[in-house]
Amino acid sequence: MITVSAIKADIGGYVGHTSMHPDILTLGQEELEKARQRGLLVDAHASHCGDDLFLIMTHERGENDQEVHRMAWGIFVKGTELAKKLKLYGAGQDLLADAFSGTIRGAGPGSAEMEIDERPSEPIIVFMGDKTSAGSFNLPFYKMYADPFNTAGLIIAENLHQGFTFEIQDVREHLQISLNTPEEAYDALILIGAPSRYAVKRVYARSTGEIAAVSSTDKLSLIAGRYVGKDDPVAVARCQGNFPAVGEILEPFSTPYLVEGWMRGSHIGPWMPVALRDANPSRFDGPPRVVALGFQLAGGKLVGPRDMFDDPAFDRARTEANRVADYLRKHGPFEPHRLPLEEMEYTTMPLIAKKLASRWQPMA
Ligand code: 13P
Ligand code: 13P
Ligand code: MG
Ligand code: MG
Repeated sequence: MITVSAIKADIGGYVGHTSMHPDILTLGQEELEKARQRGLLVDAHASHCGDDLFLIMTHERGENDQEVHRMAWGIFVKGTELAKKLKLYGAGQDLLADAFSGTIRGAGPGSAEMEIDERPSEPIIVFMGDKTSAGSFNLPFYKMYADPFNTAGLIIAENLHQGFTFEIQDVREHLQISLNTPEEAYDALILIGAPSRYAVKRVYARSTGEIAAVSSTDKLSLIAGRYVGKDDPVAVARCQGNFPAVGEILEPFSTPYLVEGWMRGSHIGPWMPVALRDANPSRFDGPPRVVALGFQLAGGKLVGPRDMFDDPAFDRARTEANRVADYLRKHGPFEPHRLPLEEMEYTTMPLIAKKLASRWQPMA
């Protein structure tokens, strides 16, 4: 069995929150290589989307392995020291715990891990998001695994026809539920259509019970109880065979759906699929980005990456995202461009409410 672990954190932005300093990425790569050489990892690749560092790793130690998590935490701590030296913005932003306590979960970084029995050919895609939240993969996952207008295989491929199981987390109550599509699709949608509360953690193929996809659902604001930057989630999806084809996995991103995040983590904006070279959200600190790195696994080796959105076929989605961005920006501080009050409770709202509390009068 091979475990694919994607663990990520924002440990400092260059410049502001827009991108990553090349020295941070180099440090990430070098530290992962050391972990590979001492036998902890089979293979690894460091990448970024905007100001977030993504550690994409394979190993034989299973999910939630303490040593793998400790090593990843160590890279983020070391990277934070370098970020402080360079005075990068928000150095150590996502390291909410003071010290490693046995798992990276609940400590700030996001993680998406799956233990798999590697198939004769194992194409996987790692999606890296910036300027957006946990739960943003709900809509694309629904399209990939439950919408036959997106995934032709649900209708015409025998091994997909039984559908998929969605493991959905209530991120506030720390509860989870599994729902089967197609028959429970409407039940699933009423939950996952509210991605700030419900997030799809895992998807399984019903034909075999195999894991198909996993995403990070770690919510920084719920861990910290205040605004500390957005979660900038990661997801891993297996492709082909009993799973949607590579093109079916990418297809949802041909529309730049609205997600939470963008400036100060407090706005909705279009999620723009970009090549790695364009993963530097600058306009109003956005709009939100998603990069797709494709790999073929070979005995746990990460053969790749291929930069999957580096394809002119996604140009129209990018143009549409820019149009939507223009339109939304005109709303300035008004909802629904600005997030609803409930989501603002993690920003300046509590302070302002406190300041104005004594000045409220009964209506005349
Ligand atoms: P500062 O108020 O420190 O500039 O931070 C705001 C922020 O991080 C949103 O971009
Ligand atoms: P990040 O979550 O990517 O650090 O962005 C924070 C922010 O406030 C952008 O305006
Ligand atoms: Mg940042
Ligand atoms: Mg970020």
